[in-house]
Amino acid sequence: MERELNKAVLAHINIPEDSAHIFAEKAHQFEEIMMMYQCAIQEVTTKLEVLSREMSVRNNRNPIETIKYRIKKPQSIAEKLVRNGCEVTVESISQNLNDVAGVRVICSFIDDIYTIAKMLTSQDDIHLVQVKDYIKKPKKNGYRSYHMIIEIPVFFSDRKKHMRVEVQIRTMAMDFWASLEHQVRYKKDIPDSAEMSEHLKKCADVIAETDAEMQNIAHKINLV
Ligand code: GTP
Ligand code: MG
Repeated sequence: MERELNKAVLAHINIPEDSAHIFAEKAHQFEEIMMMYQCAIQEVTTKLEVLSREMSVRNNRNPIETIKYRIKKPQSIAEKLVRNGCEVTVESISQNLNDVAGVRVICSFIDDIYTIAKMLTSQDDIHLVQVKDYIKKPKKNGYRSYHMIIEIPVFFSDRKKHMRVEVQIRTMAMDFWASLEHQVRYKKDIPDSAEMSEHLKKCADVIAETDAEMQNIAHKINLV
């Protein structure tokens, strides 16, 4: 009955039955791989939450302020594959993209960033694939953050898959700046963008100075 109904619907919208079948199959594969990335995010955030809980009890303070995460949207996945000259297929996603799963950790002080990065990557099931230290070497526009691509095993019912996750670690001040800069970049109706870029760069430098000062104070009172 259901099959008959589907056939009728497909005929109505002019889709041959076999191409509808292929579409459904691809959609299912896509759903499955996205589920796997969701699980990888869950594994990484759990590890960070464990560290956070432990440090809250053992130390006077917890270096992790907030943990955020996101999964890349289908449109951004397709756009990035095209931009990089890769095939737009489900297989191509895990072969060519490192940032489908993204986790962001917000800390108070610069030292906290390196502490968290070390704690996470020294766990024996985590494989560090790549590090980009935009704190030691900020981007030209002033962007600062510590980026890692890690690989984490996820156990499914029938197999173990090593999934890639992009982890960004930054201070609250760096996060404040990056959020604003992101909003400016995606607003198409900003008149003088060169002036805006210069203004943002100045703010990034002031923020970096403040981060350094705050860290000095934290050192003086033995907070970090
Ligand atoms: P993407 O293609 O953007 O993913 O860059 P990439 O593969 O060269 O990696 P990179 O480590 O440079 O940047 C990864 C992510 O960091 C981006 O997707 C953003 O979330 C963030 N990021 C990098 N540069 C900037 C920047 O200049 N401003 C802001 N707001 N975020 C940035
Ligand atoms: Mg990205």
